[in-house]
Amino acid sequence: MLVSVPTFAQRWSPAEVVTVAPSDVLTGGAPLAVNGGPKSRTRPEPPMFPGGMEIGDAERAAVLDVLDSKRLIRFYGPDDTITYSAVDTFEQRFAERMGTPYALGLTSGTAALITGLAALGIGPGDEVIVPAYTFVASPSAVLAVGGIPVITEVDDTLTLDPAAVRANITPHTRAIMPVHMRGVPSQMDELQAIAREHNLVIIEDAAQACGASYKGRPVGSIGEVGCFSLQMHKVITTGEGGMLLTSNAETLFRAKCFHDSASEWRGAAWQDPDPAVRATFQAFPGMNFRMPEITAALGSVQLDRLNGLVGRMRTHKAVLRAAVAATKRVELRRLPDAHGDAAIAMIFFTETPLLAQRVAQALVAEGVGARVLYVEGQHDWHIYACWRDILAKRTWNAAGYPFSMARRPIEYDANMCPQTLSLLQRAVHLDVSPRLSAQDVEETAGALHKVLTALC
Ligand SMILES: Cc1ncc(COP(=O)(O)O)c(C=O)c1O
Repeated sequence: MLVSVPTFAQRWSPAEVVTVAPSDVLTGGAPLAVNGGPKSRTRPEPPMFPGGMEIGDAERAAVLDVLDSKRLIRFYGPDDTITYSAVDTFEQRFAERMGTPYALGLTSGTAALITGLAALGIGPGDEVIVPAYTFVASPSAVLAVGGIPVITEVDDTLTLDPAAVRANITPHTRAIMPVHMRGVPSQMDELQAIAREHNLVIIEDAAQACGASYKGRPVGSIGEVGCFSLQMHKVITTGEGGMLLTSNAETLFRAKCFHDSASEWRGAAWQDPDPAVRATFQAFPGMNFRMPEITAALGSVQLDRLNGLVGRMRTHKAVLRAAVAATKRVELRRLPDAHGDAAIAMIFFTETPLLAQRVAQALVAEGVGARVLYVEGQHDWHIYACWRDILAKRTWNAAGYPFSMARRPIEYDANMCPQTLSLLQRAVHLDVSPRLSAQDVEETAGALHKVLTALC
């Protein structure tokens, strides 16, 4: 007989109550909390805002400095003698940390993606390969410049599957957008080889992976363009904000033009110190995605915190991965570069979707903030099957643009990436907060051992 266990907050609807067999209840004499045993975790899970939770005196002082100067936009303020710009400084420091010559501050990660695509010349009808597991902003940015997102399977890294990328290339493909989901770098060697072979550009979506690296190179610095989000949930945050990286002077120039509707007023070349740059490149009309001074001041302080945050998360995650590996009961997410993981999350795969739900539910009962990445019927904007508007090719205009510009028939389907759905349905996800104490980590490792041994 199966014992019914209550659902946990907002994750399961009443119709999806999961059951745990009494025979699974005991492991080494330790009853699962889901079946009435003691909880493994003695403290609540800290909120998962890595940089956001660290905001303190340094951020306050930096923001107040900008307010006191009344120079809220990077170009000018009431006092002509103040020429310092917090955005200039943040860009320089961000570029330096990521090992690229250039960075451009923007208003959001989405703005960075749109600007990056425009800077690379992606336009109407151009196909861009995007993973089936990413925030909807990635394909939306492609649509914003008139491109066609080609939704492509992820593999057991939960990043783009190189074989699927290869299979989806057509004569109209212009770019690949690897997304370093949940802090894990994509398989950049393989993707770069494909890009070289087919003369494609790579625009990295590093929104969730600030501080991660691949074979020693910071993510975001590897493709032609790299894009970051500084939104509240991200590793470091300014509430809202974005950053673009490139090593190419022309791409930077084009990004500057695109992100600034007044770029012509600023001499179009955007005060580029190199006259050759000013002379060579043609300007064009743009948007307004300019980063404000207050955002940049905050961002600079958060950048100082980046290495510490990632270091703490990596230490915690190593303990948790070892605990899962030791049980030999489930398969850990494959990491293309384990040393480069930003370590914001730990994910493992169970054999079946139902088992993943049972494991997550049992972990939640232990006081661990676990969840399954995809439960059919539940909406999540990070999963292509939930991108209802995109699947229906519905955009902001009656003409059906940009799908009207597609150079071949484009059809989407909620079942078009079964490998991705199967992985996500079997994926149990735990946040790895930098604010976990050593005791929290130890207790979580204990909970993982207890639950996986009992249920898997
Ligand atoms: C993978 C990914 N890409 C892009 C974005 C968009 O960033 P923003 O919210 O700053 O526009 C996000 C943010 O949620 C994201 O997670």
